[in-house]
Amino acid sequence: MDPPLDLQPSMMVLPVWPKCCYRPRLLRGLLSTLMVLLIIRFLVSGGHEDLFSHSLRYFMSGRRHPTSPPLLPSSDDFLLRPPPEVCSPTAPSLLVLVVSAPRHATQRQAIRSTWGGARRAGKFTVQIFFVLGLPREPSLQTALEQEAAGHHDLVQGRFLDTYGNLTLKTLSLMGWAAVHCPGTLFVVKVDDDIFLNLPGLAEELEHHITLAPTYLGKIYWRARPKRDSRSRNYIPVSLYPEERFPVYCSGAVYVLSGAAIPILLGASRHVPLVPVEDVFVGLCAHWAGIVPQRLARLTGGEHFPPDRCCYQGILLSVHKVTPVEMAAVWDATTPYKEMCQAWQWALGYLRCKALAWMADQ
Ligand SMILES: *[C@@H]1O[C@H](CO)[C@@H](O)[C@H](O)[C@H]1NC(C)=O
Repeated sequence: MDPPLDLQPSMMVLPVWPKCCYRPRLLRGLLSTLMVLLIIRFLVSGGHEDLFSHSLRYFMSGRRHPTSPPLLPSSDDFLLRPPPEVCSPTAPSLLVLVVSAPRHATQRQAIRSTWGGARRAGKFTVQIFFVLGLPREPSLQTALEQEAAGHHDLVQGRFLDTYGNLTLKTLSLMGWAAVHCPGTLFVVKVDDDIFLNLPGLAEELEHHITLAPTYLGKIYWRARPKRDSRSRNYIPVSLYPEERFPVYCSGAVYVLSGAAIPILLGASRHVPLVPVEDVFVGLCAHWAGIVPQRLARLTGGEHFPPDRCCYQGILLSVHKVTPVEMAAVWDATTPYKEMCQAWQWALGYLRCKALAWMADQ
């Protein structure tokens, strides 16, 4: 059977088509190609998750509990603190609080000399502090005091620095921010093994400046509590009886608006003190009716091999980065926008995923 006329090689049939019909066909072809490309881009960049995360607000509204007074620390609750001038007379608009451990002096130094050295990002002024607890060894405390005297960037809470106390660390960092740095637009909580793409994050946050309390990050949906008592993240039924957690943001990096912090600290009076820090923040947000929003390009627990375009251009954060890797990808002299070639931007996330996949093989 002869193929229908319009499937013939175009060069051959061109003259046969009346002028009226040729253009619409070409146009339709171009439009469908464009549509397919746009859909691929939408899926790869996680647009569908964005859409989902935006619609969440409609489903989850109306569950807000009345706000309670925030649970605030007293100055006795901190052993080491930055001088008060750091947040006054004007607080930085972006306050980055890096969760660190007493022993991680090398990690802190790597952050100070790479991405954490920035005092501006996009439209924001930036201040970076490290939050830690008490070391077991007294000799380490002496070293921390020296470090604090040299850099003025340690916030040390009075609790033992252990994995099981991470929720206390988060309460302490939110409390410190609420008391000593009110007026900041955003607080970014980040771990000390993360490479944060501050210019990229700042650009993203410019779209989220509102007076409403906001909670942004990589979203975990309907996660289940670990009921195996050998697990690091074990949560006993007696503490949290429900089958699932509410939607929450990965603890690797999340962003809270300054307005959200006192509300979460108020909610913290009403939710179980689960020892999994990010879930705890999610529970407080859920209580207060603050719906988490996805920040595209933030990665959770995934590692990507050192690559300047992925670290400083395409992704907003990379997890499990050693101090040596941080130094290797850091070059502050290249502007953020020029970090990737046009083709690298076009392939974006897909390219970084492919690099991570190849490094795993
Ligand atoms: C948390 O810190 C407190 C106060 O220093 C300490 O007594 C407790 O043992 C710590 N908890 C865990 C689980 O490490």
